Amino acid sequence: MDVPGRPLRYDSAMNPERRTLLKGLALAGIAPLVGCAHTVPANSVPRTLTAAASRSRVVPEPYPDTSVWSYDGAVPGPELRFRQGDRLRVLVDNRLPLETTVHWHGIRLPNPMDGVPHVTQPPIASGGQFLYDFDLPDAGTYWYHPHARSHEQVARGLYGALIVEERQPPRVDRDVTWVLSDWRLTPEAAVRDDFDSLFDLSHAGRIGNTVTVNGRYTVKEGGFAVRSGERLRIRLINAAAARVFALRFDAHEPIVIATDGHAVEPHAAGIMVLGPGMRADVVLDCTRNPGARHAVLDEFYPRVGPVSIIALQYTEEGPVRTDAREALPRLPAPALPEPDLARAERHVVELEGGAMGRLREAMLAGERLSLARLAREHGVVWAINGVAMKDHAHAHAPLLTLARGAHCMLTMKNDTAWHHPMHLHGHVFRVLARNGRSVRYREWRDTTLLDPGETVDIAFVADNPGEWMFHCHVLDHQHAGMMATIRVA
Ligand code: C2O
Ligand code: CU
Repeated sequence: MDVPGRPLRYDSAMNPERRTLLKGLALAGIAPLVGCAHTVPANSVPRTLTAAASRSRVVPEPYPDTSVWSYDGAVPGPELRFRQGDRLRVLVDNRLPLETTVHWHGIRLPNPMDGVPHVTQPPIASGGQFLYDFDLPDAGTYWYHPHARSHEQVARGLYGALIVEERQPPRVDRDVTWVLSDWRLTPEAAVRDDFDSLFDLSHAGRIGNTVTVNGRYTVKEGGFAVRSGERLRIRLINAAAARVFALRFDAHEPIVIATDGHAVEPHAAGIMVLGPGMRADVVLDCTRNPGARHAVLDEFYPRVGPVSIIALQYTEEGPVRTDAREALPRLPAPALPEPDLARAERHVVELEGGAMGRLREAMLAGERLSLARLAREHGVVWAINGVAMKDHAHAHAPLLTLARGAHCMLTMKNDTAWHHPMHLHGHVFRVLARNGRSVRYREWRDTTLLDPGETVDIAFVADNPGEWMFHCHVLDHQHAGMMATIRVA
């Protein structure tokens, strides 16, 4: 990806002195513009985004409110809205008790702006700041979250929507965002303080007990108000640390128009599976009568059965319109580099480990260790192609090194008993096949869910230079080793 008027530099190979210097600047509270040759227009003041502890009403009375970590005091954090081609300038002010970064999930941005501690920038120390400053090349539904101890920071409430509107947005009555999340709360509605448990790390991740939409559990309350006859565009974002959703809208027929922000051939959503990190834009026609109430159900975990996560509550007003529906809005086709399979280099990526897995040993920081030692001494239980990565430590070779501009097909094999939403930074890939069978829509994504035992083929053009994270978005799995880098040089 070329950002016009701005040299893109592969910067993560920067020398140690430069790293130390940057760290020094960050410690001094000066935001280093890593690798950024852009001259900032004098009138453009960045927006500040403050990460800090605050309180939030997650569950209704009579429960107390919940002590959370949040952006600008709200969960989810403020929805950042831009138009395609705009420049994002956000000064992150870290008032948390520990270091953080902000990653702009799904955006094809320059590597130094990617928000990965130790790999693309020094972590933002407690009390420090960092200026994120980059162009937004693609319209779509994205989100932002920390990339440092994210299995704890996200689970405590640090995430927000990042919406990049089309230059000509499709016609709908309302464009709304539902940030889905999941909390593990005590009976006093406090976030349970049980991070890093080996059980959660090695199983499905730290699944919670309370699902929220836009930060609040509303199932016992009014629900989401809609008016009969309305056409909504709902931007669904799974910001949960570990929970997968399989959403079904009772008595409605949502149409998927985008996956991970990118237009897809419109099709009936049916049961919509969203792993952590994944997004879907749906068009929902509110076809029921005034006063009706219909649940939106999660059906992913069959043992607990369908669970209502929110309800569509129709107001008593008469229908918005009675005339025939206009045709479904079409999103402009994504302008993404099309991978050419005929000349693509092919690589196999094996996901291994976890409870009931076959992994016996793996490499960690250049050392081959037994699974028992990895688990006991490092909290590591997963590996990718036999190598585990912990805490963004960089003392190992990338999983893959691709020449800039290379066309690449990855066959990901899930040799584990668990689900893994695999996420690639800095690029958008096409999903080609599952278990060797071509998929119907060949959708563009930055995160795709692999079922236990499943094989998924994806392809992309490695056109964005830098060291890019490739990891499972069950954040406990990521924390426990299921992470690697792909270097585009
Ligand atoms: Cu949304 Cu590497 O993460
Ligand atoms: Cu995983």
